[in-house]
Amino acid sequence: MKVTRFFSTLLSLLLFSFITTDIKAQVFESKNFKNGLVVTADKYASEIGNEILMQGGNAVDAAVAVQFALAVTLPRAGNIGGGGFMVIRLADGETAALDFREKAPEKATRDMYVRNGEFKSDLSWEGILAVGVPGTVDGMIKALERYGKLPLDLVLQPAIKLAREGYKLSYSHAESLNNHKDTFKKYQVSAEYFTKKDDTEFKEGDLFVQEDLANTLERIARFGREGFYAGPVADAIVNEMERYRGLITYNDLYNYESQWRDPVEVEFKDYTLHIMSPPSSGSIAIAQILNMINDHPLEEMGHNSADYVHLVSEAMRRAFADRSYYLGDPDFVNVPVSELISEEYNDTRMENFSTDTVTSSASLSHGEIAGFVESDETTHFSVVDSEGNAVAVTTTLNGSFGSHVSVSGAGFLLNNEMDDFSAQPGEPNAYGLIGAEANAIEPGKRMLSSMTPTIVTKNNRVDMVLGAAGGPRIITATLQSFLNRAVFDMRPQQSTAFPRFHHQWLPDMLFIDDFGLSPDTQNLLQEKGHSIFPMPGIGRAHNIYVEPDGSYSSGVDPRGDGYAAGH
Ligand code: GLY
Repeated sequence: MKVTRFFSTLLSLLLFSFITTDIKAQVFESKNFKNGLVVTADKYASEIGNEILMQGGNAVDAAVAVQFALAVTLPRAGNIGGGGFMVIRLADGETAALDFREKAPEKATRDMYVRNGEFKSDLSWEGILAVGVPGTVDGMIKALERYGKLPLDLVLQPAIKLAREGYKLSYSHAESLNNHKDTFKKYQVSAEYFTKKDDTEFKEGDLFVQEDLANTLERIARFGREGFYAGPVADAIVNEMERYRGLITYNDLYNYESQWRDPVEVEFKDYTLHIMSPPSSGSIAIAQILNMINDHPLEEMGHNSADYVHLVSEAMRRAFADRSYYLGDPDFVNVPVSELISEEYNDTRMENFSTDTVTSSASLSHGEIAGFVESDETTHFSVVDSEGNAVAVTTTLNGSFGSHVSVSGAGFLLNNEMDDFSAQPGEPNAYGLIGAEANAIEPGKRMLSSMTPTIVTKNNRVDMVLGAAGGPRIITATLQSFLNRAVFDMRPQQSTAFPRFHHQWLPDMLFIDDFGLSPDTQNLLQEKGHSIFPMPGIGRAHNIYVEPDGSYSSGVDPRGDGYAAGH
């Protein structure tokens, strides 16, 4: 059943491609900003981040303001009812990674999606049982307390204003709400918040007002984390749990804590990549892939030549096979990080690599050391400031509009992040990702993620701020945003926009951007045994690149409606 859902996810991507063709997105390179740049999936959010920088805030202040703004202007992925990851690199060289990923409620059980002996995958995808304990509000407050310069109520003001006074829906925003109308109608409160009273469709330019959300954001501005994890907002969340028989309790909410972790550091050529560590799988996968391809003459092969795509996708295949077996929440399972990213281990993984033919996924399991899990409706943003501080954040409700359950009186959607667990080890999730024991459900555990916020330094200075939306394609899109610059010396716009490809071990397919590889390149890949599956949009990246003169530029991804705002 989950495989079916995987293909229906692909279908919705196809649909999304029609939607995005009409968006008045910023598609040209935005370049040479001297004092700061904010790149997000949404014009309002980018401009708010840039305003905060101009008011004297640093990159962390701006990132927190953007996260709250996206909760208002991008309800399909931006959130206060979900979670995410933040990677920070300060101008003085300090790095940090903040894990504000959701957790399984204390009452969660390994077989909570099994009914009469049968695994019911829909339960982990839609409705109240799909909801993990939200982490965003705690995460934003922690980040601001440790690294921000501005007070919480100030960085929240722009989001409160947008929610209270409303903002004009973009074409894609209106269409995404319309596309989910039938599902919203299953949940009375979501129908009130996210469909029109007269049952007509939303149109581009409609004013979208969210009074209840404005009140919730105001409570957070006044009371900090207590404004969300206790008091009336916590009451409202628990009421939803009672209404639909969900699992999250007052204790789950009150005890939620985001977690500071060390980013994983990966060396490649003259670059150091600082990537979100587990429970993100992106750092390990990117480190493995770079290790596996490092000794090959990438530049000589040529960008997106058949040989290059074959080599890199074979490395992707092996890294994703390992992902499905070894990775999970490091607070619960022993993730063998140093072994997985070591040169020796990855050399052994490539011993059966052939330049002429694929290694079929059926013949390839995880390697020996002593899942494709994730949603497309994640959103990434990158921020840099005048001091040289950089922040990369990826945040999500998981599926588009998460569980589709909204919190009555509080104005926001709850995530469906429980689907990122291997809800039944061995069964694929909505993205076709297979997971194993390391990512099985346990109370209080965080589900594995593909979100891969990444900051790249060169000569000890920030050189790239990278990340993407797009489920497991986040990992491979971020990898290619990096390689395009590090190996092929591309300009920001090319590096972000050029066709990408993706392999995730299972299903055994080589996914390519549908505007992507030439027919003769595809033929050569098919001769090597690849099953090619063109799809609209291998990730949607919102990157920042630092120019040789220290100014900031961005290539906005034509696959989405991203927007860069700088000064
Ligand atoms: N739900 C998307 C991810 O965390 O990978």
